[in-house]
Amino acid sequence: MTRPSVFPLPPNRTIGIVGGGQLGRMAALAAARLGYRCHILTPEPESPAGQVSAGVTLGDYEDPAALAEFASAVDVITFEFENVSAAGLDLLAALKPVRPAPSVLRTSQDRIAEKSFLNGAGAPTAPWRRVASRADLDRAAAALGLPAVLKTTRLGYDGKGQSLVTGPQALDEAFASLAPKPLVLEGFVDFACEISVIAARGEDGRAVAFDVVENRHRHHILDLTLAPAPITEETAEEARAIALRVAEALDLVGLIAVEMFVTRDGGVLVNEIAPRPHNSGHWTIDACPVSQFELFVRAVAGLPLPLPTRHSDAVMKNLVGPEETALWPEILAAPGLIPHLYGKQEARPGRKMGHVTRLFPRGALPGPFGIAAALGPLAARADRLEETVEIPLVPVG
Ligand SMILES: Nc1ncnc2c1ncn2[C@@H]1O[C@H](COP(=O)(O)OP(=O)(O)O)[C@@H](O)[C@H]1O
Ligand SMILES: [Mg+2]
Repeated sequence: MTRPSVFPLPPNRTIGIVGGGQLGRMAALAAARLGYRCHILTPEPESPAGQVSAGVTLGDYEDPAALAEFASAVDVITFEFENVSAAGLDLLAALKPVRPAPSVLRTSQDRIAEKSFLNGAGAPTAPWRRVASRADLDRAAAALGLPAVLKTTRLGYDGKGQSLVTGPQALDEAFASLAPKPLVLEGFVDFACEISVIAARGEDGRAVAFDVVENRHRHHILDLTLAPAPITEETAEEARAIALRVAEALDLVGLIAVEMFVTRDGGVLVNEIAPRPHNSGHWTIDACPVSQFELFVRAVAGLPLPLPTRHSDAVMKNLVGPEETALWPEILAAPGLIPHLYGKQEARPGRKMGHVTRLFPRGALPGPFGIAAALGPLAARADRLEETVEIPLVPVG
């Protein structure tokens, strides 16, 4: 059955977003500016995205009745998180256009499918092996060497579902502690830094990418993003080329974030991909004429995709858990800090509650101490910041 195309989506139409988190919230705010309404599917009352959207279907992602009700309320469907079942998206795709296609989600939500796809598309990764049994793990450890990182293939986020295996004595416990099986063992990358590229691709196949950023994690949760990444032009070009190649190979219509490691010799390895807006792109709201969220909405709605330029350099700092959220009054009073809060009711430890962006003139991104100082009240946690913002230098050439 062919449907008449709704693209380019006219103003006042409704974009359905599966997932109610902060990525959906910021996408809905960008969609509103383009004249669209958003309708959220989430099991959570008072979700960050639901609070700023025209409609919400409260229901489970696997419930056929909820999926059908949601689909009937919208003109096009996208998703803001990846742990929705591809079968659920298939059901939605039978009712309304889904962008990116469910096949893209299938690839990205399973680390083995993802790495096989990436390697097939000519995007290098750390060496890896599928691990279904304890004997597989011995063979994989022998092939890759230790240390290595053992990960679940599905449902991991913010470092959950993975274990660093430092030596043979740690194999038993790592294997026992992770579920469901199969797992994947990855060679440990002694990286110089972590970077990411966010790219968008339209239905006409035209793809564009933001500048490369550096990401600094703390307890496996993104802490800081520096835009642009302090890497060589050559490494940056390679990273952007890989992201565009991945978007093309996926036949993506939508937005994708490609997380990468920069190796000590300036090479680039892909870590993982996320076919949706990404935490490492939040800086684009304040530092770019068109943010990752607007680009996402444009791609999903079939609108033109402008080149994503950057008018400023930027540092983005996540506000994680109760301690950083408690600094909110000081953050609001600090000159130059651009505050974003996600409307979450409870600041549990490790929970992303909001973020702060600080802009700098292009080319004026400061070094570690300058960044700590520029974060004002958050520099009160300078013990952490100095440790966190020590920028490794990637060898030139
Ligand atoms: N193979 C690896 N070598 C070195 N560090 C790794 C490796 N895999 C993951 N890490 C570290 O753990 C972080 C989280 O891993 P990732 O695979 O991105 O999972 P998540 O889904 O939790 O983001 C990465 O950003 C990186 O800092
Ligand atoms: Mg990751």
